[in-house]
Amino acid sequence: MSAQDIQAIPVAGALGAEISGVDLSKDLDNASFDAIHQALLDHCVIFFKDQDISPEQQLGFAKRFGGIHHHPYMQGMPDHPDIFEILKTETDPHNFGGVWHVDQMFTPKPNMGTILYAKEVPDAGGDTLFANMYAAYDALSEPMKSMLSGLKVLCVGDRPGKKSRKERYKALNGVKMNDEDLGVRSSEHPLIRTHPETGRKSLFIGSHVETIAGMTKEESDPILDFLRKHAVKPEFTCRFHWDKGSMAMWDNRCTQHNAIDDYAGQRRRMHRITVSGDTPF
Ligand code: SIN
Repeated sequence: MSAQDIQAIPVAGALGAEISGVDLSKDLDNASFDAIHQALLDHCVIFFKDQDISPEQQLGFAKRFGGIHHHPYMQGMPDHPDIFEILKTETDPHNFGGVWHVDQMFTPKPNMGTILYAKEVPDAGGDTLFANMYAAYDALSEPMKSMLSGLKVLCVGDRPGKKSRKERYKALNGVKMNDEDLGVRSSEHPLIRTHPETGRKSLFIGSHVETIAGMTKEESDPILDFLRKHAVKPEFTCRFHWDKGSMAMWDNRCTQHNAIDDYAGQRRRMHRITVSGDTPF
């Protein structure tokens, strides 16, 4: 395996590429890692098929990109605290991540990327949708871009007055929460952010966004409603079908994703690692 063997084949017009020529159970030389890193920057989400890797190997791959970001609510696996398992059992009423979102956007330094590895998958269903937030930004009119420029959004984990995450997730058999009650988490971030590596601007929006800072709810809600719908137009998206052994890595600085809840009565088990990010600007 060498960098020359690595190919990134786009899976849709907007974003997403399947990476071939890589065996993630083997050490990646620097040139191979650089090719994969560049493919992530170019395509926003990359997919690997037929990988047979251990938790240590998934973690080793993640650490090539940076430190590990720990989720403030979710508990890591007992033997691998840096990895958390997303399990939906046959009797779980709903899934985890089934809304358009950016992972842990409510934290002051949201993670740069998520690496998800499929351990068990349903016979059909359980795909994940991704949307390209550069494309969503680029498609806005110039007057809209200037109005949004400089605005900040309040992003929240638990919304006061609504069911806490803990209450919502305790109905799920397969998702483990931290014992500690971490309460409300919130952060303000720019609505238009600049990617620290590509320098491109993108729309930074997802389910954690509550209001535009400094605006009344009456002012903020219609703008956010428009942006939420605009951001996930079909032409900005791709869809990934998981097989056992598939792995995806997405760049949370320029994408949103949504795990489709369409496999009632079946199991889906994934290993998820998030890589630390920096303060959005
Ligand atoms: C997530 O939102 O991190 C989970 C995505 C998925 O399970 O497909």
